[in-house]
Amino acid sequence: MRGTSIFFSHTVTNQSHTLHEYRTRGGYGGLTRALTGGMQPADVEKEVMASGLQGRGGAGFPVGTKWSFVNKKSPVIYLACNADEGEPGTFKDRWILEHSPHQLIEGVLLASYALGVRHAFIYIRGEFDLPLRRLQGALDEARHAGLVGERIFGTEFSCDIVIHRGAGAYVCGEESSLLNSLEGRKGFPRNKPPFPAVKGLYQRPTVVNNVESLATVPWIIVNGGAAYAAIGVKKNPGTRLFGISGHVERPGLYERPTGYPLKKIIEVDAGGVLGGRRLKAVIPGGSSTPILTAAEIVNVTLDVESMVRAGSMMGSGGIIVIAEGTCMVRLLQVLTRFYAHESCGQCTPCREGTDWMNRILERILAGRGVAGDLAALRAIPAGIMGNTVCALGDAASMPVLSFIKKFGAEFDYFVEHGRSMNAGRLAA
Ligand SMILES: Cc1cc2nc3c(=O)[nH]c(=O)nc-3n(C[C@H](O)[C@H](O)[C@H](O)COP(=O)(O)O)c2cc1C
Repeated sequence: MRGTSIFFSHTVTNQSHTLHEYRTRGGYGGLTRALTGGMQPADVEKEVMASGLQGRGGAGFPVGTKWSFVNKKSPVIYLACNADEGEPGTFKDRWILEHSPHQLIEGVLLASYALGVRHAFIYIRGEFDLPLRRLQGALDEARHAGLVGERIFGTEFSCDIVIHRGAGAYVCGEESSLLNSLEGRKGFPRNKPPFPAVKGLYQRPTVVNNVESLATVPWIIVNGGAAYAAIGVKKNPGTRLFGISGHVERPGLYERPTGYPLKKIIEVDAGGVLGGRRLKAVIPGGSSTPILTAAEIVNVTLDVESMVRAGSMMGSGGIIVIAEGTCMVRLLQVLTRFYAHESCGQCTPCREGTDWMNRILERILAGRGVAGDLAALRAIPAGIMGNTVCALGDAASMPVLSFIKKFGAEFDYFVEHGRSMNAGRLAA
């Protein structure tokens, strides 16, 4: 890519994940600078604060601010890196784990140094196989090299990293659910407050940060927070990893500065819509973010303000491209089935509501839709949103509401005729 790159500054090879290659491209330079260059833990936090880096896990909370909430005088503080990456359409953290795991380990160490963490955890999605093996291999290498463990670089700073493998539950990506799972409990989200930064793992102050968030920290320490803040859009600066999937010629992972045009990343970088078909819609930030029609994306740029103005969210950076001819009823049912399956069942509105929405959509698809179905699909999310312990219910509701608002005619047609209005209407 042109301009500053935090993840693709080098040619990616089948050895990029090794310690040797990482060091060749300047790896562990940030940790060296922090530990042996006279930086105090507070200095590391200050640089991250100055960078304006916002969390890349979906909620976009400023990383430095989250770190500042932790009472550094607490005798025990934990860091939990969220490598659960379960949101459909999102595959950026997997890339980091597979191709630059040392970058994450260095980020975890820098965050641990800033926060006073002695034991850090990386909670990795249960389905990840190669990413787990690469991460474990990198951690073993780092331990051997004295980069993880006792008295790193001969300083007072000691830190162990423990990899914990999840068992394949999307809800365990929610930070408090992740902490329950780490403790060996059922992966139910916790009520907040207290937030993890106050009472987290084993009731101790805990910072939960996403893989991409932490893997960005080494660059910030080497180049300075101000340099990071100067990339992209001022209010949410930096580069972001965008996973493009669906109906595009070149699906894959693209690193672009915030403020980059959404249309350009689809039409130019990803080679345009598959087979020269026309663009119908885009889900811009992972499957839970509200869908945008082709007309709505014309002036949208990849930053928080522009996305919110268009009526959607940046989310986790997973851009799902949908071509003309796609049946939106079927697509929504696929998404809703996922959330209904992944609802943990703790909160009645989410447990029951996601299942009701899925069953209604299944019935419409089977040609047995009835007149009140659309009204029900509008009403059920209203009963879920804001009435649950975590945001999984909102994640399930936003696609339903936005699909029906923007493609309501397709749902009406399906209910009335028992079939899709798209059947046989694929553009050439
Ligand atoms: C249902 C649900 C699933 C989530 N899954 C993930 C995930 O897989 N990875 C992730 O980093 N954040 C996920 N999050 C967001 C986390 O709760 C949390 O905000 C994030 O890990 C914080 O890291 P960040 O501040 O660096 O973005 C999820 C949230 C919800 C409600």
